[in-house]
Amino acid sequence: MESAEIRRRWLSFFEKRGHTVVPSASLIADDPTLLLVPAGMVPFKPYFLGEVAPPHPRAVSVQKCVRTPDIEEVGKTTRHGTFFQMCGNFSFGDYFKEGAITLAWELLTSSVADGGYGLDPERLWITVYEQDDEAERIWRDVVGVPAERIQRLGMGPNFWSMGVPGPCGPCSEINYDRGPAFGAEGGPAVNDERYVELWNLVFMQFERGAGEGKDAYPILGELPAKNIDTGLGLERLAMVLQGVHNMYETDTLRPVIDRAGELTGVAYGAGEDSDVSLRVVADHMRTSVMLIGDGVTPGNEGRGYVLRRIMRRAVRNMRLLGATGEVVGDLVDVVLGSMGQQYPDLLTDRRRIETVALAEEAAFLKTLKAGTNILDTAVSDTRSAGGTVLTGDKAFLLHDTWGFPIDLTLEMAAEQGLSVDEAGFRRLMKEQRDRAKADARAKKQGHADLSAYREVADAAGPSEFIGYAHTAGEATVVGVLVDGVPAPVATEGDEVEIVLDRTPFYAEGGGQLADTGRIRLASGAVVEVRDVQQPVPGVFVHKGVVQVGEVTLGAPADSRIDLARRRAIARAHSATHLTHQALRDALGPTAAQAGSENSPGRFRFDFGSPTAVPGSVLADVEQKINEVLARELDVTAEVMSMDDARKQGAIAEFGEKYGDRVRVVTIGDYSKELCGGTHVHNTAQLGLVKLLGESSIGSGVRRVEALVGADAYRFLAREHTVVAQLTELVKGRPEELPERISGMLTRLKDAEKEIERFRAQKVLEAAGGLAAAAQDIGGVAFASGRVPDGTTADDLRRLVLDVRGRFPGDRAAVVALFTVVNGRPLTVVATNEQARARGLKAGDLVRAAAKALGGGGGGKPDVAQGGGQDPTAVEEALAAVERLVTEAA
Ligand code: ALA
Repeated sequence: MESAEIRRRWLSFFEKRGHTVVPSASLIADDPTLLLVPAGMVPFKPYFLGEVAPPHPRAVSVQKCVRTPDIEEVGKTTRHGTFFQMCGNFSFGDYFKEGAITLAWELLTSSVADGGYGLDPERLWITVYEQDDEAERIWRDVVGVPAERIQRLGMGPNFWSMGVPGPCGPCSEINYDRGPAFGAEGGPAVNDERYVELWNLVFMQFERGAGEGKDAYPILGELPAKNIDTGLGLERLAMVLQGVHNMYETDTLRPVIDRAGELTGVAYGAGEDSDVSLRVVADHMRTSVMLIGDGVTPGNEGRGYVLRRIMRRAVRNMRLLGATGEVVGDLVDVVLGSMGQQYPDLLTDRRRIETVALAEEAAFLKTLKAGTNILDTAVSDTRSAGGTVLTGDKAFLLHDTWGFPIDLTLEMAAEQGLSVDEAGFRRLMKEQRDRAKADARAKKQGHADLSAYREVADAAGPSEFIGYAHTAGEATVVGVLVDGVPAPVATEGDEVEIVLDRTPFYAEGGGQLADTGRIRLASGAVVEVRDVQQPVPGVFVHKGVVQVGEVTLGAPADSRIDLARRRAIARAHSATHLTHQALRDALGPTAAQAGSENSPGRFRFDFGSPTAVPGSVLADVEQKINEVLARELDVTAEVMSMDDARKQGAIAEFGEKYGDRVRVVTIGDYSKELCGGTHVHNTAQLGLVKLLGESSIGSGVRRVEALVGADAYRFLAREHTVVAQLTELVKGRPEELPERISGMLTRLKDAEKEIERFRAQKVLEAAGGLAAAAQDIGGVAFASGRVPDGTTADDLRRLVLDVRGRFPGDRAAVVALFTVVNGRPLTVVATNEQARARGLKAGDLVRAAAKALGGGGGGKPDVAQGGGQDPTAVEEALAAVERLVTEAA
């Protein structure tokens, strides 16, 4: 059974049993505790925790997952993959153990004809958590699995959590006995290669706290409801149903192995080491494509590093197999071929995926070339000094300068019998990361050196932000910088950066643009503030120009923000929160924020969605936003602990770092979000929100852009004017416009067709004359000539065939016509059967003509077409054809 069919059956089986089909979420998890989605339940976590009311009691999905802790096992065992698809069925306080167990059994064991997977029940072995009597009883008494095929295991294998605080519960696994060829008997408790785990049923009923490993954590209490979370590995089931030895040989991965084999000349099965490499390549290339598809780009941090490491391992394994040139393009192509059917976005994004993958390969190949020499030198230096450990410095240099992922250094060093000081390497990495973060913040500021700002912070302490409550305030100048360097004074005309001890100016952050405004000093000096940034935390740097006077350190200042701009930004920011909530309500929790920008009167909001949002849904969302804002909801902000915020169900933006104390912005009963921005006091201040549309900004991420308040009004007023002009033009009511205009377009198209018909007719009218003017060359009728310039190739062909048809069948006839289109000569030649019997083939005649025209052409013996460069050579070409006819006649 093909993977696509396994997936189809999965969804349809559960859909028929009351489950809502939920599309796979992006691999980029909307969950700050995760880099990438490792399990099917991730998008549903808020439902399990009771943070969000589930929109349906049952759900089914096939979720894309990436797990890399076992990356070293890939290719060596039969069933470890970095990317896999987890088929899951979920119950949110609906059915529990018995429901999950009986559904699973039915689907696995019912016959293929009945829509099941048709597994032999005798081969299925069950494990349950050692204290879970209830699950064992259900398997034994309700399903009828013999007691000897049910095994009890401890928390490690049979109690499931995400590895971090969150939902958890005992689980029961269904394992498939692959037979004696795969090892000793004894059930999954003793042999997990032979008794391979297919499906894990998690009875999600507890919440766990922090702790290490799979069993050392406290159970904090019961979840609000008893839930079901299951996960069946699609690749593993495919392995069983396709009767192959390992998951890499299943239908979606095998083509990649084969292609890698072709590219390297090392066939699969030729040797154990090369087979491992081929399997690694297949697994890793597929994972890379899936990650890039979801918008991950290679980098040195976080997800970017996961991707880089995987891709580079793939390329390196190709080189171990003997590849010397570029291979990624070919491999990406096969992966797209095998995965594109299930994930059509991959095909739409083909160009982007290829570009990212090829760029990474090119970078890595360059790296490898240079880095390998450095590594070899480092290795021989270490050896000749009698050492066996490559220093952390060297590993860091390889990473930093040559882009060698640490595991590559480890691998390559190990091949030469050396180990690496990993701890030293990690320390240097951390130092560098801290530097990089500071630099990134400084980029906006234009100065990579942040020490000047740190000095200000050290001397004056952090600035106090008073801008939530005030739009103006008294302050003292605690820092003056000109060109990024502390200066005692800045004078008229200087571009200056001013730090105040307290400020009402919002520094750009959290998607909200900075305030602008003025700072007046007691001395009379005035600074026009154009931007405000926080290059180091707590230091609010006001950037602007000294308009009048001198700015000196320690001077008292009166700062005032541009109120109109602030209000317009606040309207946009509050509208963004409403939009976020409305989109989540309409599309589910996968529509999580992926970025935003709030500027005066306008905002854009990026969110996760596997597909485009239909216009009708967007219209509903817009309507909802406008209904909600008209309810005059108060907008309030409160600082609380992260725990309390979570308990209250506040939405946190993924990727943002929050401290222990967080600010929660609440809009009436409608929205609650972690946010440091400035907002309106009441939604009525928004006036109006107009969504301008929705577009893709990468796989799985969509963007809406919108206008708020007066800007929304002005937009609608402009549209209204356009509609008024159109109604005037077509003399109809506004609601008739679509019909009228589409009617006009149809008539226009019909008219164009009519003109086309006339033109063709006119061309054919020439046919009679051309046939009548044919010369007789030794019994062959030869109709030839040049027709008006601009006759299309199609028309010319039609004309030639028409002329040919005018000669009786028993008379040999050759028709050769020429025209010039856009300065280029064109010819079509046709011969009838009698002519061909004399050896006159259209293809030969065209070739002769085209040669004279300075071009080429060809076709069948009966009709052929050609062209060239030189329009003045038409006569000569005609003569060439005539010569051939004469010779044959
Ligand atoms: N969440 C469970 C797992 O990942 C089903 O195994």
